[in-house]
Amino acid sequence: MDTQGSQSNSHSLPLAGTMTAENLPEHVQRNRAEWDNRAADFAEWAPDAWAIEEVRWGELRVPDASIHALPADVAGLDVIELGCGTAYVSAWLARMGAKPVGIDNSPKQLETARAMQDQFDLHFPLHLGNAEDLPFPDASFDLAVSEYGASIWCDPYKWIPEAARILRPGGHLVFLVTGLLVVLASLDDDAGGASMGTSLERPLIGMHRLEWLGEDGVSFCLPHGKMIDVLRESGFEIEKLIELAPVDDRDLEIAGIPNAWARQWPVEEIWCARKR
Ligand SMILES: C[S@@+](CC[C@H](N)C(=O)[O-])C[C@H]1O[C@@H](n2cnc3c(N)ncnc32)[C@H](O)[C@@H]1O
Repeated sequence: MDTQGSQSNSHSLPLAGTMTAENLPEHVQRNRAEWDNRAADFAEWAPDAWAIEEVRWGELRVPDASIHALPADVAGLDVIELGCGTAYVSAWLARMGAKPVGIDNSPKQLETARAMQDQFDLHFPLHLGNAEDLPFPDASFDLAVSEYGASIWCDPYKWIPEAARILRPGGHLVFLVTGLLVVLASLDDDAGGASMGTSLERPLIGMHRLEWLGEDGVSFCLPHGKMIDVLRESGFEIEKLIELAPVDDRDLEIAGIPNAWARQWPVEEIWCARKR
């Protein structure tokens, strides 16, 4: 764990994680380099994301008000955002009265998050660290959220038990991931990135760690049955699995997924669970 850049508050003490950058797991080191490289692109879009005045999920920007993934009232809740990136989700939650803390593995993404905090005059603690090995005491948060953060870049067999550890009994875990069918139907493209097909391009049985052609990062995806198992074995009850479809007719061809595809299969999924 590396506390460089954390701001001081009751959640800033490095109590649990003890890893230095050198002894981070191989995939966490690779993902740090990957996200430091991608940070400039995300910095361009960060002001627009911070300016949105409600919680909107994923690339589809589905308003939480229409799907209720979050608890009904987040005011006063201690919230941890796992893999916060530029931290716009935390900013939205802060405006709703929550007390967010962000943690991310990329110093460069956190630089953008800090610049946004100054630009929007909205400050909350930010930590550099690995969401698989969190620097927070047991039972210290009411809500853990992740939007394409730890939810896809961390090993679910590590970050989900860690999320359970730092949540209080009854606490909520809400995370967004790429739709399982997107992963299954993506055509690996050696020019970099993936394009969408309509046939099964990879096995589902045994799916866990993913390395896409043309990308240096390592991501993770589990079959739904395995995801249910790891959530339940970590102490969660699953409340909802929300499969997202586009909400309007604007051009949604973000991330290489054509509108026609997104209208037939869920592009993104939100898992909502509650710690027993
Ligand atoms: C697509 S961004 C998601 C965050 C935010 N929603 C955004 O778009 O800026 C993915 C983030 O996950 C972070 N990440 C990857 N591995 C991580 C880890 N092991 N611990 C914490 N954060 C991690 C990356 O550094 C990156 O900022």
